[in-house]
Amino acid sequence: MKKTLLKVSGLKVAYGGIQAVKGVSFEVKEGELVSLIGANGAGKTTTLKAITGLQPVAGGDIEYLGHSIKGQGPWDLVRQGLVMVPEGRGTFTRMTITENLQMGAFIRDDKDIDADIDKVFAIFPRLKERRSQLAGTMSGGEQQMLAMGRALMAKPKVLLLDEPSMGLSPIMVDKIFEVVNDIHSQGVTVLLVEQNASRALQLAGRGYVMESGEVTMSGDAKVLLNDPKVRAAYLGE
Ligand SMILES: Nc1ncnc2c1ncn2[C@@H]1O[C@H](COP(=O)(O)OP(=O)(O)OP(=O)(O)O)[C@@H](O)[C@H]1O
Ligand SMILES: [Mg+2]
Repeated sequence: MKKTLLKVSGLKVAYGGIQAVKGVSFEVKEGELVSLIGANGAGKTTTLKAITGLQPVAGGDIEYLGHSIKGQGPWDLVRQGLVMVPEGRGTFTRMTITENLQMGAFIRDDKDIDADIDKVFAIFPRLKERRSQLAGTMSGGEQQMLAMGRALMAKPKVLLLDEPSMGLSPIMVDKIFEVVNDIHSQGVTVLLVEQNASRALQLAGRGYVMESGEVTMSGDAKVLLNDPKVRAAYLGE
């Protein structure tokens, strides 16, 4: 039996009086790539923010590595290997690419940081070419690569990706999904939030569908991909 790394049970998150997440439950086991799909405003980002300590939990629980992490701050969670690539990338715009990657390793004090920056450059040669450029002057696709590279510098056990393909050209979307697949193949457990339901479910082993703050469907990703309701709602059929 594979170990459950992340377990969300009955999670509730509210903004003022508005409940954005209304009792969501799901889990991610070691080595899995799980996709969370759903329309605009379904509560996907809010769920990730609650998991990573960026938004307070109003109800339910979040367990990581077998312990409740409710109330823990984002930095502590990164230190434990729970690392997010946020929606909209969140790169440090006034820092260079290399500096952004170094920031990703802020929790580390080992001697492999430079070697790991080289590994990120091997995954994304474009970042190497532009390593002295300020992040804020890079294209959307380059910033997504940088955000993913920065997350890898923290040596994640579980990588949470919030809509990595958003706003990118088809070629860049291919590249990003290819890298997500590679990262997963190299042993990183991945929770992939996407509006590109088709691509996300093709890559994933299991999936969850969120609607209006609730999980409405879940199961084997290929079964979801072929489900008429999912196809009608998320694949434009
Ligand atoms: N800071 C905030 N203050 C108030 N309401 C918010 C805030 N952030 C999100 N919401 C609301 O919470 C609900 C869920 O938003 P959320 O960003 O989690 O959705 P999402 O599934 O990530 O959508 P998208 O696919 O568009 O990114 C929405 O109704 C949104 O308007
Ligand atoms: Mg979102």
